[in-house]
Amino acid sequence: MLPDLTDRTVLVTGANAGLGYWATEQLAARGARVLLACRSASRAAAAVAAVRERVPGARLDVLSLDVADLASVAACAAAVDVGLDAVLCNAGVTETRGRQTTADGFELMMGGNALGHVALVAALLDRLRPGGRVVTVGSIAHRWSPLDPADLQAERGFRSFRQYGRSKTAAMAFAFELDRRFRAVGRDALALAAHPGFALDSSTPQRSGVNEVAVPLRVVAQPARAFAQGKDAGAWPLVHACVGDGVRGGEYWGPGGWQEMTGRPAPSRARAHVRDEVAGARFVAAAERATGVRLGL
Ligand SMILES: NC(=O)c1ccc[n+]([C@@H]2O[C@H](COP(=O)([O-])OP(=O)(O)OC[C@H]3O[C@@H](n4cnc5c(N)ncnc54)[C@H](OP(=O)(O)O)[C@@H]3O)[C@@H](O)[C@H]2O)c1
Repeated sequence: MLPDLTDRTVLVTGANAGLGYWATEQLAARGARVLLACRSASRAAAAVAAVRERVPGARLDVLSLDVADLASVAACAAAVDVGLDAVLCNAGVTETRGRQTTADGFELMMGGNALGHVALVAALLDRLRPGGRVVTVGSIAHRWSPLDPADLQAERGFRSFRQYGRSKTAAMAFAFELDRRFRAVGRDALALAAHPGFALDSSTPQRSGVNEVAVPLRVVAQPARAFAQGKDAGAWPLVHACVGDGVRGGEYWGPGGWQEMTGRPAPSRARAHVRDEVAGARFVAAAERATGVRLGL
């Protein structure tokens, strides 16, 4: 059960669809003000309407953000004129057909899922209220995806599934390194990671204008319920990490059920390679060099 959130403000990236939408709806339902950072104004407007249909009077504001474009990231951060209790770094792509690049020339998954969020968080650190939380969305895929520090951008060989896993490893390593830096400077803030298990649109309740999965596909997807859940449930650990009680910096939350694919939020175990201090510091240094943005911690 989430606490009353009427005094909290949470920024959610990629809030118009999937897990980001559900995190937004769940936060708003407990009274939080949510800043929906989205790349499409029309999809963001549809998400706002869908939340308000269920949560009349929900306090929602839309920010323009393409996390795969550093100019957009900087403009989004500059537009945040309120104190933040949490930033949920959720936006992401899970695969690409061949190696694609961001506006700044980074490989798309590393560039958006990880580097863009590092730049966003760096620019928002002074907006984080005391006790504020930075939550990055990781994945089970981190387990078999240690970073290749010499080839973060997959220039020497691209495989979509492997690069996706590495982008999630990078996002998690960033959270754990950021948390170590908060502790090192005595800053009253937390950074941690969370993952949704295995969450499918086809098992997710319908929200008009947000996710409209054809009935036949929902029927075909029924057996998947044994090992997957809807994105509504997948958002629970993300939301818990942002605002739940009993959460500490450096933790990793996920579903507590079978193989961490489904279930209620529970502490999850991150592999040693994402917690490695040398690898974490090296990734943050590489991200700072690539983006030109400094954490200042
Ligand atoms: N679903 C799972 O089982 C699962 C498992 C592990 C981790 N995750 C992680 O959870 C996060 C959300 O996944 P999901 O399943 O909810 O995916 P989704 O349904 O495809 O939603 C992705 C969201 O991210 C947004 N987005 C993508 N690229 C963006 C960009 N460059 N700038 C701004 N927004 C962008 C999308 O916006 P548009 O609508 O404009 O495209 C959308 O709102 C991802 O980081 C993913 O890696 C998911």
